[in-house]
Amino acid sequence: MCGIFAYINHLTPKTRREILELLVTGLKRLEYRGYDSAGVAVDAADQKDIAVVKQRGKVAALEELLQERCVELSVEDSVESHCGIAHTRWATHGEPSAVNSHPQRSGDDNAFVVIHNGIITNYKEVKTFLENKGYIFESQTDTEAIAKLVHHLYNQHKDFSFQELVEQVIQQLEGAFALCFKSRYFPNECVATRRGSPLLVGIKTRRRLSSDHVPIMYTNNKATRGVVPSVPRVNSHAHFQPEEEREVEYFFASDASAVIEHTNRVLYFEDDDVAHIKDGVLSIHRLSGSSTDPHQREIFTLKLELQQIMKGNYDYFMQKEIFEQPESIVNTMRGRLNFADSTVTLGGIKDYIPEIKRCRRLMLIGCGTSYHSAVATRQLLEELTELPVMVELASDFLDRNTPVFRDDVCFFISQSGETADTLMALRYCKRHGALIVGITNTVGSSICRESHCGVHINAGPEIGVASTKAYTSQFVSLVMFALVISEDRISLQKRRADIIEGLHELDTKIRQVLALDKEVRTLAEDLYRQRSLLIMGRGYNFATCLEGALKVKELTYMHSEGIMAGELKHGPLALIDDSMPVVMIVMRDPVYTKCMNALQQVTARQGRPILICEEGDKETMAFASRCLQIPKTVDCLQGVLTVIPMQLLAYHIAVLRDCNVDCPRNLAKSVTVE
Ligand code: F6R
Repeated sequence: MCGIFAYINHLTPKTRREILELLVTGLKRLEYRGYDSAGVAVDAADQKDIAVVKQRGKVAALEELLQERCVELSVEDSVESHCGIAHTRWATHGEPSAVNSHPQRSGDDNAFVVIHNGIITNYKEVKTFLENKGYIFESQTDTEAIAKLVHHLYNQHKDFSFQELVEQVIQQLEGAFALCFKSRYFPNECVATRRGSPLLVGIKTRRRLSSDHVPIMYTNNKATRGVVPSVPRVNSHAHFQPEEEREVEYFFASDASAVIEHTNRVLYFEDDDVAHIKDGVLSIHRLSGSSTDPHQREIFTLKLELQQIMKGNYDYFMQKEIFEQPESIVNTMRGRLNFADSTVTLGGIKDYIPEIKRCRRLMLIGCGTSYHSAVATRQLLEELTELPVMVELASDFLDRNTPVFRDDVCFFISQSGETADTLMALRYCKRHGALIVGITNTVGSSICRESHCGVHINAGPEIGVASTKAYTSQFVSLVMFALVISEDRISLQKRRADIIEGLHELDTKIRQVLALDKEVRTLAEDLYRQRSLLIMGRGYNFATCLEGALKVKELTYMHSEGIMAGELKHGPLALIDDSMPVVMIVMRDPVYTKCMNALQQVTARQGRPILICEEGDKETMAFASRCLQIPKTVDCLQGVLTVIPMQLLAYHIAVLRDCNVDCPRNLAKSVTVE
C-alpha cells in the first residue's frame, strides 16, 4: 500500500541536504509500494520545530518541491544527530493530495508527526473521541487520528517516554499498521512499530556489530481499551548498544530494498514490537506475554546486492524482470534439483513430507498472478500426488467460509508474502488446524513467518508492480513440490524423469522464447490501438490465458479476457468476428485436437487468430494469420514458455500506449488491505 522510511543518525554529522537525499532515495526504492503522493518530516532550521514537506504525485515531485524550499530548510547546515521520516503513499482513506499525504501531524505546531502503512479499522471511533476533546482534523486519513492520539496521551502523561506513549497508542488501534513517529518533544528520537504491515530496521556502524541479537524488554503497560489508558509502568534496561559504538545510523523501512545500499545488517520486527531509538541506542519493547515469548530478535545479514534491485540496462523494471527469467528459475531450482541423480530436495518442507503424504487434500490459495500459478500446476499436482487439489482465490475462499480440516494441507502462494487476503486465509486455515505451507519470494514476510513450513522461490526482488518472474518461479516451485511427493512412486518414474529433464533445459528454452522479443514488438504495433484482446487455450495452457489477460489489463488498460477454449461455444464465440483480436495457444499436448476444433470455429467466423504454437508445426500454423513459435518442452512445463510472449506483448503494448509500465494506475505491488 505505502512505503515508509526513516533515517536516524547519531553522532554522525550530515548536512540537511544529505539527510533529505537519503530520505528521498529511500522513498524511490519503495515507490513500487505506492506512488500517488509523498512526504518527509525533518527538523526545521531552528532545530526546535519540525518541517513537514508533502506533495501529491510521485517521489520526483516531492524532490522538486524540496529543491524549491532548500533555503528555508537550510540544507547546507550540518547536524550531528537527527531523525527524519519519509513516506510514499497509495491512497486508502482520502484521495491523493498533499493534505492526505504523510507524515500526518498532531496539530499546526507539528508536535508529533507519523507515517503509516496499513489501515486503521477503528479510526472513526478514535477520531470522534479526539474531536470531542477539541482536536480539529484536516485530512480524510485514518492516520491523522494516530498523530492526534499520541499528542493527547502526551498531554495527559508528560512523564512518559516516547516509546511508552506509542505503546499506549497501539493498544487503542485496530487494523494493520507499520508506523514511525517523530516529535519535537523528543528531539532526535524515533519510535517505530508494526502490526500486520512489514517493517525492518537497517543498522550501520563503522565496525562490525559485536552482537547479532537485540534483547526484548517486556513491560506491563497495559492500557484499558477505549482510548484513555490506565498507566501502570515497569521499566527495564535491556537495550542494544552496537559495540560501544558512539556513531551509528539506523534506517527503518518497509522492506530491505530501501536500506541495502547503506547496510546489509537488518532486523525484522514482529507484530506489536515497539522499537525506540534514543541517543544512538535501539531498544525493542513489548507488552508482557507468556513465558515462552522470545527474549531477543536476531540481526540478519542480507545477501541482496544493490544491482539486483536496480534497473540495469533495461528501460523498466518489468522488462528487466521478464528477461531475468532464465536466471531466476535456475535460482529457484538451485541446490534443490540434482539433475545427475534426479533427486529433488525442498529443505523448507522436508520434515513435513510424511504428514503431507497422509493428507486429505491439497489447497492452493493466492490472489492474482500467484493464484494463476496454482491454476497452472494443479493438473500436475493431481497427477503426481494422486490427491484432490483445490485452487482458491483467497478473497473468495474467505467469503465462503470454506470448510477446512486438520488433515488438509494449505499452500499460500504470494510474491510479497504480505497480501492481506492471502494472509487472512492463512490464519483462517491455521485456526482450523491445517498444515500451512508458504510459497513466497520475500524472506521474513508475514506469510513466511506464519507458515509451518515453506518454499522460498528465490526469484530475487520483483520491483515492477506487474508480476512476471515470480510467476514462473512459483510455477517451478510447485512442480518441484509435485516431484518431491512422487519420489517413491515406481509407476511415475518415467514421467518424473521427463519433467526433471524438462526443468534442466528450461532456462535455454526461455532464452529462445525471449529471442522473439522483436517479433512480439511488431505484433504489439498492430494491436496497441485495439480496445480488446481475447486469449484462448485449455489444459496446461489455460493459466497462461488468465495470466496473459491479467498482464494486458493491468499494464495497457485494454480490455482482455482469458477464455477456456472448451467454453467457447457456450458464449464467447459470440464475440468473434473479423475485427476482434484473438490469441490462441495451441500446443501438441493431450488437448491438441480439442484446441484445433476451437481454432477452426474461430476461423469459420472470420476470426483471424494469432497463434502461440510449437516451433515448426506447419499444419497448425496454416490456420493462423500470424504465429509465435515456441520451443517444445514436456507438456506440464509448457506454460512457463507460453506465458513469456504474453508478458512481452503486454509490456510492448503498454509502452506503445504510453502507459506507466512499472507503476500501472490504481495498483500497488503489495496489497496489504482486504
Ligand atoms: C499482477 C500482480 C497481482 C499479484 C497479487 C498477489 O501482476 O502482481 O495480481 O499477483 O496482488 O500478490 P502477491 O503475490 O504478492 O500475494
